[in-house]
Amino acid sequence: MEGLGLVDGKFVGLDEYVVPIEDRGHLFGDGVYEAVVVWGSKPFMVVEHMERMFNSAALIRMDLPYTLEELIKFHLQLIEKTGFEEALIYSQFTRGVAPRKHPFPLEVKPRLSMTIRPWVRLDSNLKINGAKAVLLPDERWLKCNIKSLNLLGNVLAKQTATENGCFEAILHRDGYVTEGSSSNVFVVKDSVIYTAPTSNKILAGITRGVILKLAQENNLILKEETFSPDFLLAADEVFLTGTTTEIMPIVSVNNQAIGDGRVGTISKILHEVYMNIIARECHLLP
Ligand code: PDD
Repeated sequence: MEGLGLVDGKFVGLDEYVVPIEDRGHLFGDGVYEAVVVWGSKPFMVVEHMERMFNSAALIRMDLPYTLEELIKFHLQLIEKTGFEEALIYSQFTRGVAPRKHPFPLEVKPRLSMTIRPWVRLDSNLKINGAKAVLLPDERWLKCNIKSLNLLGNVLAKQTATENGCFEAILHRDGYVTEGSSSNVFVVKDSVIYTAPTSNKILAGITRGVILKLAQENNLILKEETFSPDFLLAADEVFLTGTTTEIMPIVSVNNQAIGDGRVGTISKILHEVYMNIIARECHLLP
């Protein structure tokens, strides 16, 4: 099976036409989303992801018609129905279906659609040897803390990165690095880890949150502080975090080597500890 969809509680094939032409997600990108990785048939950090979905929805003044428990149940149903052990579950709410007018329509119900697909992990060579990134101006709107369906700024940045043979675009605004087009950014300088503080300019990544905790537990010094693109270029290590990105070491930015151009020690340690957490939480360990 290549995957399965779930629309407002009903299973659908991935090739079925299920989006009404006047769905506001389709017309305006008026909605929010989440992506959860499944390991060992367990949705990793699904509670945190669904809590963030409620938060994003509240920030665009949308009341979700399901409870946290129901959303978790939908994840489990998709896993059970497909039998996938490693998968990616994508879910999104749109504000609903109504004739195209900008103001919120009255009495429409937000629509939930979800998909599950087998999860193909990133090429392990990238993790071992490190990936490349490019610095680009952050041209997105000023509510990047909302996991909104509107991703044009992110898509355009990622496309430029891809066309330059890079894994990620690292964005900067007002002289400071914000985040990647689909990841959070960390740098290491003189054994201190830095990442941009949470604000309206970045998404408070779930993986980012895990790294903050892991740094504390492993006695690593981590500062949530802004830093400039020049500081990043002069760093000893750079790495990215994200649900699908996991912990990705970056060894070259703008074709300039970071540190000695090899994957750094702290990036390696955090990657290892992070993968151990997944293994433990998803019962992959014997
Ligand atoms: N992206 N910043 C942005 C802009 C993101 O899109 C993402 C995740 C992150 C990392 O967040 P988390 O650790 O919660 O995955 C940061 C998802 C996976 C995506 O759009 O596919």
